[in-house]
Amino acid sequence: LAAHDPQRPRFHFLPPAGWLNDPNGLTQWNGTYHLFYQHNPHAPVHERIHWGHATSADLVTWAHEPTALTPSAGPDEDGCWSGVLVDDGGTPTIVYSGHRGGRELPCVATGSADLRTWRKLPDNPVIAGPPDGLDLTAFRDHCVWREGGRWRQLIGSGIRGVGGAALLYESADLRRWEYVGPLLTGDVTHGSTDDLSWSGSMWECVDLFRLGPDGAAGADVLVASAWHEGATHYPLYWTGDYRGDRFQPVHQGPLDLGGRYFYAPQSFRDEHDRRIMFGWLQEGRDESTVAAAGWSGVMSLPRVVTLGADGRPALAPAAEVTMLRTDPVTVAAGPLGDADPRRLWLGDQFDVEARLVLDPGAAVDLVVRATEDGAERTVVTVSRAADGPGGRIAVDRAAGSLDPSVDATPRGGPVPLGPGGEVDLRVIVDHSAVEIFANGRALTTRVYPTRPDAGGVELRGRAGGSRVERAGAWRMTDIWA
Ligand code: FRU
Repeated sequence: LAAHDPQRPRFHFLPPAGWLNDPNGLTQWNGTYHLFYQHNPHAPVHERIHWGHATSADLVTWAHEPTALTPSAGPDEDGCWSGVLVDDGGTPTIVYSGHRGGRELPCVATGSADLRTWRKLPDNPVIAGPPDGLDLTAFRDHCVWREGGRWRQLIGSGIRGVGGAALLYESADLRRWEYVGPLLTGDVTHGSTDDLSWSGSMWECVDLFRLGPDGAAGADVLVASAWHEGATHYPLYWTGDYRGDRFQPVHQGPLDLGGRYFYAPQSFRDEHDRRIMFGWLQEGRDESTVAAAGWSGVMSLPRVVTLGADGRPALAPAAEVTMLRTDPVTVAAGPLGDADPRRLWLGDQFDVEARLVLDPGAAVDLVVRATEDGAERTVVTVSRAADGPGGRIAVDRAAGSLDPSVDATPRGGPVPLGPGGEVDLRVIVDHSAVEIFANGRALTTRVYPTRPDAGGVELRGRAGGSRVERAGAWRMTDIWA
């Protein structure tokens, strides 16, 4: 059933069927990339979550592996929730949240050398409950690392009336943990659900890593996914300085301008010393459609995270994604006029890359998944302010689908432009999955056109002066064929 759904991506990672949410346990182990993920193999609903598992030699083509963790009698009876994989002196070790009776507690499992078979510790959970004296909204998800001969761990949480929190713990052996204190807390009273930088009442999937060389200031990054009153909100970052038991923030912002469409990201450092990140692309269609389709959730393409010149994280697809390119389409350079759109008929599975130069006040549209009559069309717009260097990226899904039940909320946000108004735009479309990158800013979304001819791609200047300095477009290979 799932295999015939025209909305189902063909070069993104997906389970064979059922439900997928967060990436978990990301690692490169003896050269092989491992992707674990929150998975219900039985139905496209978030219930009795297992850890699915897949491996890859190249980060873009994947082989399904046997299920790694299955809920069983004990603290993970109702679900094996999110966590990480660490190397404990050669023993692959998973730290995850056991879910039982509506609460989560930290659990540990050790793996075989091939990471296929996992044994849960008999004395799970390894932490009996949240720290005393704190009124918490939740207590789950893990970031674990080695530091100064000991293990440290962050657990995602929220302090009632205060805001999201990353709680710091320490251990000698991954089994006995001591609470240190909150590494960072947010402010639930400042902002609202429409605000891209608001951090909500709870932080899911906390992730701490360093992007700069040792000693560089402001080069530590904390990532968390803001959750509020039962709803997933935005993935956020804080850059700053992790020193001692605290994180001193410098910049804060949305990690992806698409909001919930790139949620619960997790990252790892690979053997090439890159910081690689995956995130969960949630669905934007209703439950009955998802139930009929038999699958839900897409894993993002691998992204490389670096520190941008502005001191904020810069996201770009990993170079390996270009290995999936085939059938290049020539896109002529030169001025972009309204009367002279570059039409590229590429269908529903492609990668477009363009270096654009925008004059003040200019706007360029890249229209994707468009029918010939324009009845269905998704519009990605890059623009430059009339009176300053500021740029913007936005996606308009108002006519994205003739199906009125799918989400069509507009999304957008600021993008730093080059000194002459340059922007490197990358738009990757895989059926319903759309990943947009512009000068290090990401905007991920989902779009569900209904008509089989919704495959038009067009680049056009909408306002002001703009030109294409260089551009290319490719069809993408079906990794599941
Ligand atoms: C984030 C999340 C995590 C949790 C997992 C459960 O999407 O809610 O906080 O561990 O998913 O599947």
